[in-house]
Amino acid sequence: MSDCRICGAGLKPFMSFGPMPIANGFLTPEDFDGEYFFDLEPALCESCGMVQIVEQPAPELMFHADYAFFSGTSQRMAQHFKALAGELIERNLTAKDAFAVELGSNDGIMLRHIADAGIRHLGIEPSANVADAAREAGVNTLTAFFDEACAERIVDEYGHADVIYSANVMCHIPDLPGVAAGVRRLLKPDGLLIFEDPYLGDVIAKTSYDQIYDEHVFLFSATSVARAFAPHGLSLIDTRPLPTHGGSMRYYLAPKGSYPAAPAVETRLEAERQQGLTDPARYESFREACERSRRELLAALGTARDEGGCVVGYGATAKSTTVTNYCGITSDLVSFISDITPEKQGKYSPGVHIPVRPYDAFRANYPDYALLFAWNHEAEIRDKEQDFAASGGRWIRYVPEVEILA
Ligand code: TMP
Ligand code: ZN
Repeated sequence: MSDCRICGAGLKPFMSFGPMPIANGFLTPEDFDGEYFFDLEPALCESCGMVQIVEQPAPELMFHADYAFFSGTSQRMAQHFKALAGELIERNLTAKDAFAVELGSNDGIMLRHIADAGIRHLGIEPSANVADAAREAGVNTLTAFFDEACAERIVDEYGHADVIYSANVMCHIPDLPGVAAGVRRLLKPDGLLIFEDPYLGDVIAKTSYDQIYDEHVFLFSATSVARAFAPHGLSLIDTRPLPTHGGSMRYYLAPKGSYPAAPAVETRLEAERQQGLTDPARYESFREACERSRRELLAALGTARDEGGCVVGYGATAKSTTVTNYCGITSDLVSFISDITPEKQGKYSPGVHIPVRPYDAFRANYPDYALLFAWNHEAEIRDKEQDFAASGGRWIRYVPEVEILA
């Protein structure tokens, strides 16, 4: 049995998704034999309320020079980060020599706007290829993993930060206490830590179990975030629900005593008590809901195949690795996955080895069904794919329910 990464209490998984490959580990046939698998098992820490996976592959296996995920592939996400940058510039980076740091700055999708505004900034990004893309966009970027020692180096070189921001990164870092200590070290006394990640409350409410994969070591709630950062002198002062990634939460934290907490915090904590997010029984029913979702999705795909219909996956997302491997979906049910990311095209999906093809393969010959693996981008995608629907193509979706959309 492993211990909670936050409080050290023993962890007992509430379910097992079985052996899983690296979620973003798109591969070539030469690599099939040596493919790495681990047991994907989420657990609730009954002591501090943090939901986390028990075993996580070494970071080097997940984030490296060929990291296949580029933030800039979604128009709406690009708009989302532009809006956030605008808010930071207007509200939090008004001081003459203001300094913003982003943890996990990817291809600079957010910081490029801070850079364009001429504001001092630093992106920290461990994956060298995406860090290079950020530098090309004019974003000052350090290729490193953030921890207390890294924070120390940044303070020496740049001074303390007004804002430390992070999107879809904090939940990737197993040593969250080390990051919290680094953040406290790097922030000004009246500085803010702002971060956003997929929200546990949405995952439970929508049975979006595909948010559980190797990179997402934690699934946060306001309750668990407040408890995890408090020992490092950081208080939760505000929360804001976001529609991104199928349901996210933005958390605002500040050095203890520097800002009062907004009423939204207590409202959110109460909603989480009502939802049972720290109650083990809630996770039993979540496990049952996942099993039901798997049965229904396999039934829908089986029916499509038996009718002679062609099913193509839309978006080779990291999330789809959990779905295909947990449900046992192979290329006899989904002929290929279409994806606009050049780094994924021509490769095979992790574990089940469904071919990934360029978007043109989808456009050139519409299938009967498109399985919406990128369900978190549904509005953007359905908007873009009106011709597919007009040609009689149908979407299969599995969050929040398995449904075939006419
Ligand atoms: P994400 O769910 O982690 O944001 O990943 C989305 C994936 O889906 C990424 O590989 C890009 C791909 N994608 C498409 O192929 N077409 C699209 O229109 C969108 C929005 C994403
Ligand atoms: Zn704990």
